Amino acid sequence: MNTCIVGLQWGDEGKGKIVDILAEKADIVVRYAGGANAGHTVVVGDTKFALHLLPSGSVRPDTTCVISNGVVVDPDCLTGEIDSLAEKGISLTGRLFISQNAHLVLDYHKAEDQLREDALGKNKIGTTIRGIGPCYADKVSRTFAVRAADLADLDTLKQKLENTVDYKNKVFGALYNAEPLSAEKIYQKCKIYAEKLVPFICDTTEFLHKSIDQGKSILFEGAQGTLLDLDHGTFPFVTSSNSSSLGMSAGCGVPAKNVDKFIGVIKAYTTRVGSGPFPTEQDNEIGSYIREKGNEFGTTTGRPRRCGWFDAVAVLYSVTIGGIDTIALLHLDTLSGLKELNVCRAYKIGSTDSVFFPSNIKRLAQAEPVYETVGGWDEDITEVTDFDDLPENAKNYVTVVEEYTKTPVTIIGVGPRRRQIIFR
Ligand code: GDP
Ligand code: IMO
Ligand code: MG
Repeated sequence: MNTCIVGLQWGDEGKGKIVDILAEKADIVVRYAGGANAGHTVVVGDTKFALHLLPSGSVRPDTTCVISNGVVVDPDCLTGEIDSLAEKGISLTGRLFISQNAHLVLDYHKAEDQLREDALGKNKIGTTIRGIGPCYADKVSRTFAVRAADLADLDTLKQKLENTVDYKNKVFGALYNAEPLSAEKIYQKCKIYAEKLVPFICDTTEFLHKSIDQGKSILFEGAQGTLLDLDHGTFPFVTSSNSSSLGMSAGCGVPAKNVDKFIGVIKAYTTRVGSGPFPTEQDNEIGSYIREKGNEFGTTTGRPRRCGWFDAVAVLYSVTIGGIDTIALLHLDTLSGLKELNVCRAYKIGSTDSVFFPSNIKRLAQAEPVYETVGGWDEDITEVTDFDDLPENAKNYVTVVEEYTKTPVTIIGVGPRRRQIIFR
């Protein structure tokens, strides 16, 4: 059984938790897109792991982990993550496979991300400054790209870095008056990364297909969310990869026909970090209530997340373009204590009601949410393990979400821990 888990909102839906739970019954977990902009939280007992590049299956000692070609790998972050798990007694030796074709995020990418955002000022995208956009741009433009395989050929890498850094220094100096970077320093760091990472680098496409032939069970772990997809999200306030389920095949070389089930992850409300339109945003006491109760602060950057009501128009769009079969709805517990809850069931744009999400941000900016108001509940539901034991209004809320997203909710989160989950 192969399953793809993907975010249906603007990221941080709780993908890490769902992947961790489902990984118990899987052989392999694959990260196929994005980079260290992702922050996936896994809570095991009293230990909280915030994973940026390692798949969320990595905290389970017997799970095989793959970082495939679609990921942009920051070797500094990845080696740090491997070391940090080792300190907790979790070894990746022999069970981590990194694609030779994955592109490397190096210091000049992070520098460029920062320089560009600073130059944009109030028009900034609000990126994570993890060098994601500049690295994917180098991948697409091809001339100055460095891939994981290059770590195994240090002489060629040295030459490549000298050419690249020379070019970047000229551009950054001319455009931003930036201090020059040292190719030699970056090369010296790459030598250390090579020592640690080369044993893990291989052809992950071949590995995955062999595993499929052997009947292994694979989880494909999406990063970010569908509304941050480079092509289908709220451009330009998106990330630089196809972060919807549509990016899975290109990101790991496995066709969608090999996936039995696409599970979309959502929160019972909506959040967004960074700039861009957000029709149901509640920049008021409701938003603050959700932020505090749900601990809505970025896993990667610590930034407070913007919070708002559940947007069924946005999620239905993600379900539709992503071929989503079922939904995992998390943070239902966070809504406890609110007297009434609003669910956005349509957008009023001009004089018409529309239920098709406009990814064009000019049109989206004109969208006024049309809400259905439903009753809230006061009970603490964080210990509930059976759907039938939820308060009536909480059950009704789940039904309303199913109705407007046209998708069954089969998993419900009632807290950050592994056991705080309801399967239906
Ligand atoms: P991801 O990027 O999609 O993996 O999500 P993040 O880890 O960035 O953010 C989700 C946050 O919600 C983390 O702090 C999780 O520990 C937490 N979380 C996940 N599921 C639940 C839930 O059902 N209820 C509550 N209260 N917290 C949850
Ligand atoms: P996970 O996997 C939430 C957002 C950034 C910014 C935009 C572009 O944890 O859900 P980037 O650094 O990618 O160029 O930033 O995308 N963003 C995320 N928001 N969760 C994420 O990942 C995100 N990854 C990127 O905040 O708005
Ligand atoms: Mg996150």
